[in-house]
Amino acid sequence: MNTKTTVISQAQLDAQFAFCDKISAYWLREGRTPTAYVETYGCQQNEADSEKLRGYLAQSGYTVVQEAEGADVVVMNTCAIREHAEQRVFGNLGALTHTKRRHPAQKIFLCGCMAGETKVSDRIKKSYPHVDGCFSTHHLWQFPEILWNVLSKGKRQFYIEDEPGSIAEGIPQVRDNTLKAWVSIMYGCNNFCTYCIVPYVRGRERSRKKEDILAECRCLIENGAKEITLLGQNVNSYGKDLDESVDFSDLLAEIAALPGEFLIRFMTSHPRDAGKKLFDTMAASPKIAKQLHLPFQSGSSRVLKAMNRHYDREKYLELVRYAKSVMPELVLTSDVIVGFPGETEEEFEETISLIQEVRYDSLFTFIFSPRVGTPAASMDDPTPKEEKNRRFDRLCAVQNGISEEIHESYVGKTMRCLVDGTDKEYLTARTEGGRLVRFTADPKYIGTYQFITVTGSTTWSLTGELADKEA
Ligand code: SAH
Ligand code: SF4
Ligand code: F3S
Repeated sequence: MNTKTTVISQAQLDAQFAFCDKISAYWLREGRTPTAYVETYGCQQNEADSEKLRGYLAQSGYTVVQEAEGADVVVMNTCAIREHAEQRVFGNLGALTHTKRRHPAQKIFLCGCMAGETKVSDRIKKSYPHVDGCFSTHHLWQFPEILWNVLSKGKRQFYIEDEPGSIAEGIPQVRDNTLKAWVSIMYGCNNFCTYCIVPYVRGRERSRKKEDILAECRCLIENGAKEITLLGQNVNSYGKDLDESVDFSDLLAEIAALPGEFLIRFMTSHPRDAGKKLFDTMAASPKIAKQLHLPFQSGSSRVLKAMNRHYDREKYLELVRYAKSVMPELVLTSDVIVGFPGETEEEFEETISLIQEVRYDSLFTFIFSPRVGTPAASMDDPTPKEEKNRRFDRLCAVQNGISEEIHESYVGKTMRCLVDGTDKEYLTARTEGGRLVRFTADPKYIGTYQFITVTGSTTWSLTGELADKEA
């Protein structure tokens, strides 16, 4: 198999920019500024992709607006991870028939991970005639061409051919937040966990060149970013496909060495490839947040094997023990799936005991959702839905108790936080570990690091007050 990544050339990108120019000229002739709305579902990878969609739209003359009603272009950037996520999209897509009836010239696009599934694109072709264009993640770099074809030919466009995946540098981005930025360091996934659709819709793992990532981070920091979150489905395998010899820890260390006041976060780490070098690198740099999202998925080694995760309970616990030993202040979060096909009551109890042993700050908890085309979807699954719901509720109750206790232990502590916004009458800030703190102060502090003393806690968040100490 050819595993070399296709790099989209400058000439190919220039051709897309030429389409942006054609679209701008089209609206100039129409005599008004068009508007566009991008709705994002799913993970940060999709958030980062939406910034590129908005970048292209801005370059084509569109003003980005906050609702679909009346917008000239609506883009739904979708997630396929669970059945429920897809149902929501189809529901919202159905509702767009009404906005389009009120604004018949509106052009509607569906992209993202769902667009990479044949069953979805077939359904769009057949049952959603108001959708003008559908393109998978592999074709995002061609969005101006797709949009222009819809505008100029008045024909529906489907760019859904499956591909191993490419890398396109230089797509313009309109970022949601200048203070906190996402930077994709790699795309796709090679792990094929048996329950997961991502490798099928996002293609093979491919890393961006280190120099391109460093240049992007440098530019973000110079423009005021205080937090940079590096993104990839499995950041620990960064660099494996590059000619240059560089791994994720090397990359982290080089970003941390850039001048400026900022904090680096990253997600997601796969326990299979995480190790001492990563944790030592984190421990060594004050610019790398002592926060780790390390999905474990199940506490049972048998289930982990059936999931094709390539680690067992012991190896996971060993990793956590080492990480905590070099970073005692580490904030740990994780993902877990309840009700994987064939999970027994005893195996579920192993998940509970792992949570109690590790004591996560918070957990993202999911009930197994069969995805067409993945191996787990055709595994025997005798556990009734009610039983899975019961396990799920019990898991959440145990975790909520732990989160509450951990949050309580923050009370009285003074921590350096990034003041990042407002929530009603409060200002919001994030601790280095990523915990949310609400407090009352002058909005002039937004965008700065401040010491905050925690005065109260709930299961989900903290309250505090400005401390009399310079950050
Ligand atoms: N690449 C990341 C996970 C990305 S998907 C990693 O490997 O850690 C985010 C989470 O969704 C996964 O960690 C998993 O817990 C959950 N998930 C993925 N597929 C699922 C499915 N079919 N049913 C239920 N949860 C699922
Ligand atoms: Fe899915 Fe596994 Fe890849 Fe994560 S590592 S995206 S869970 S296949
Ligand atoms: Fe969803 Fe795709 Fe992310 S399936 S979780 S948006 S990679």
